[in-house]
Amino acid sequence: MSFDPTIRPRDHFTAQQGWLNDPNGLIRHEGEHHLFFQHHPAGLVHGPISWGHAVSPDLLTWTELPIAIAATPIAHIWSGSVVHDAANSSGLAPEGQGPLVALYTRFEPATGIQSQCLAHSVDRGLTWQPYAGNPVLDIGSTGFRDPKVFRHGDGWAMVLVLAEERIVQLYRSPDLISWTHHSSFGPEGFVTGAWECPDLVRVPVEDSADTADVLLVSVWDGGPAGGSGMQYVVGQLDDAGFRSTQDAQWVDRGADFYAAISYADGAGPEPVVQAWMSNWQYADQVPASGFRGSMTLARRLSLRRRDGELVLVQRPVVRAGEQVHALVDHDLTGTLALPVAARTCRIVADVEPGSAPVFGLRVRVGDGERTTLTIDVAARTVSLDRTASGTVDVHPAFAAVHTAPLPGGEGPVRLEVVVDVASVEVFVGDGELVLTDQVFPDPGSTGIEVFADGGTAHVHRLDVTV
Ligand code: FRU
Repeated sequence: MSFDPTIRPRDHFTAQQGWLNDPNGLIRHEGEHHLFFQHHPAGLVHGPISWGHAVSPDLLTWTELPIAIAATPIAHIWSGSVVHDAANSSGLAPEGQGPLVALYTRFEPATGIQSQCLAHSVDRGLTWQPYAGNPVLDIGSTGFRDPKVFRHGDGWAMVLVLAEERIVQLYRSPDLISWTHHSSFGPEGFVTGAWECPDLVRVPVEDSADTADVLLVSVWDGGPAGGSGMQYVVGQLDDAGFRSTQDAQWVDRGADFYAAISYADGAGPEPVVQAWMSNWQYADQVPASGFRGSMTLARRLSLRRRDGELVLVQRPVVRAGEQVHALVDHDLTGTLALPVAARTCRIVADVEPGSAPVFGLRVRVGDGERTTLTIDVAARTVSLDRTASGTVDVHPAFAAVHTAPLPGGEGPVRLEVVVDVASVEVFVGDGELVLTDQVFPDPGSTGIEVFADGGTAHVHRLDVTV
């Protein structure tokens, strides 16, 4: 399919055609990042889901490959994960080889039963052989899904949800095939909707040698911007299981960040996660052009100490880009239109609020259109306003302002805004607060403005790269 100038992003993964939801089976393997995904290639809404497949050297340029695990009329391939069984603990590869092993949920449309199945690949994820003894875990439930497998001690562990009960179940296995229940977590934290797509990651604490275990759980409804959202729980995984040491928080305060899981075998100590950039509230109603849905940028996770608590910090994986504009030591009063036109760009700014109680940025500015990021220093809030962002009659809840507390103390505010054709991802306070929203502006809305209202803000530096 040809490039669609209206809604096909540059750096965010989209399927060539058809519907896409959750990322699955994320793994870095032999120099490539594999992104499998919930895919209905023949439709623009959720349906008989297969695992699509794409690879990337850098998490920004993607090559889509053939369907990895295909749906059949009696078995849809729902979310799950992939690990590299380097020691061939499963015995599924020929002697001396280590297969990639996928654990996914098989959804049977006739009964609604959700059971956990296994497939393996010995050709770097290109083709997959279902395990003859599938399912490997079946409790006869219609709400038991989304296995995320990781190494644990000298064996394997897996988290998955009892969705309606809002419980994460931890299972263990020596060989990825026989699974034994170990412990449970929940209901706890945000329980406003069914739980989905759990992950348990070890995250480094900034400026220290400490780490904490962080449980990620997606919540179907009651999210911070309405509809679905994602929570994280800082805690500890030990022999007794996972327990929280802090209250749950939302991962992202925008409307469009869901079902994120981490890459297995990541390069560094910081887990890298990627999410589906949509919301079940309106996912099947957003503009489509032969394809519908995209992933967010990948993000590196760390934790930052704030008032005795650990706060999740997210930094996007971005391309180096070409600098097209800079402001240095600029006193800003009122609105300044930058001499830049971009549908895809990255803006990084350090702004000293000064005497201005309110400052911010507008992107994708055009005839009556804009998406506005406002830092209200007096109210100590950050808001992302997509009410005039372009096509907003997607769903009654779409045209909204998403607001969250401004992180950090007095002093300069670091903003990073990534715009990519049909989305805006905002990172405030060096990754401490994130808002992700889809937007559907006119292709001609390419302006960028910075503004300070009611006083003067001092822009230490602002860089625009494309
Ligand atoms: C999350 C989810 C998962 C499920 C998959 C089905 O968005 O509902 O719980 O496995 O999507 O496509």
